[in-house]
Amino acid sequence: MRRLLEIGAGGVTSKGGYQSALGGASLRMWQDYFLRARIVGLDLEAKAVTGRRIRVERGSQDDRPFLLGLAARHGPFDVVIDDGSRIGRHQWASFEALFDSVVPGGMYIIEDLATAYVPAYEGGPVGEPGTSVQLVKDVVDSVLRRHAGRRGHPVAELHVYDEIAFIVRS
Ligand SMILES: C[S@@+](CC[C@H](N)C(=O)[O-])C[C@H]1O[C@@H](n2cnc3c(N)ncnc32)[C@H](O)[C@@H]1O
Repeated sequence: MRRLLEIGAGGVTSKGGYQSALGGASLRMWQDYFLRARIVGLDLEAKAVTGRRIRVERGSQDDRPFLLGLAARHGPFDVVIDDGSRIGRHQWASFEALFDSVVPGGMYIIEDLATAYVPAYEGGPVGEPGTSVQLVKDVVDSVLRRHAGRRGHPVAELHVYDEIAFIVRS
């Protein structure tokens, strides 16, 4: 059975604020799209999302022990999607904790990369340390530095588009 983990279950009110009882739109979409997959959601808030193959856990995407436990309970994952806080140090923490639980050939996806340049999300000018964009640049090194005899994250491919990066595990 395929397994997908999405960080950030969602649930936005009409005024743009988060309402914890709502959410799960993308989790339900993945359940419809991947007909036999187990869909796992993670959110900081309590989410009342139901679905035959959907499970949602409450926790923070920067809590490494919690993430390792989540991966042990539900992984390994074919797909991990980070659509959570959009804060660089959270995105780094999630990647460092969860990339090892992606199966070879599986994908780790990071959304909303442009917040790397937005101070409200702890972003800053080009080159600001600790942002999601710096994480993507670090992954470029992982892909290429094996040619210099160095080991990085086991990354086979990196695809970067407007606002989103797909990192394929080798
Ligand atoms: C953009 S919404 C997710 C939207 C959802 N993936 C969708 O497409 O329907 C971001 C979610 O991340 C959650 N979030 C914020 N900070 C978080 C954290 N530190 N850990 C886990 N989830 C977090 C928010 O509660 C919110 O539900």
